[in-house]
Amino acid sequence: MIKISITLLFIFLQACDTKPPVNIYKSDEYNRFTEQDRIIGESIWATTCFRCHMYGSNGGKTLSEKDYWNEAAGKGFQALYKSVWEGKAGDEGVMPPKGLCNPCSEEEIKKSVLYLFQLAKKIQTSDSLKQVSKLNL
Ligand code: HEC
Repeated sequence: MIKISITLLFIFLQACDTKPPVNIYKSDEYNRFTEQDRIIGESIWATTCFRCHMYGSNGGKTLSEKDYWNEAAGKGFQALYKSVWEGKAGDEGVMPPKGLCNPCSEEEIKKSVLYLFQLAKKIQTSDSLKQVSKLNL
């Protein structure tokens, strides 16, 4: 009986390795995001990511496209980071590797991804920002 339990426990632990990704909003990385991280993430957003994700240029999705970002959030932090680090082809355009931030390190790109999701949530939940994004400047 003990042997069976140990075997079952082993199988259970192995199954944990292949568990589905944690939504980025529930991830440790997102919840541990500090003010210092935000400053780095925001400066990368403002120099590169912004060019495609603010107004939806070059096939990038604007942060007010709630359904798109909520679905993406479900892929989990690692997969999203990988998309940005390696680049990603979308329906209407291509995100170049590192989201165009060529001198950025892995750590910096990770912070920019976390910042982007933080900003997306802010834009999607703030009435005044929603108005601004509707103007489609
Ligand atoms: C040249 C335009 C461009 C730039 C610059 C850019 N992106 Fe993107 N991004 C895209 C496109 C295009 C897609 C794919 C859209 C689609 O799914 O149709 C995308 C998708 C994404 C996704 C979703 C990935 C996934 O797997 O679902 C994330 C996250 C993202 N970008 C973050 C960033 C971050 C962070 C930066 C800055 C470091 C950045 N992007 C810079 C164009 C860009």
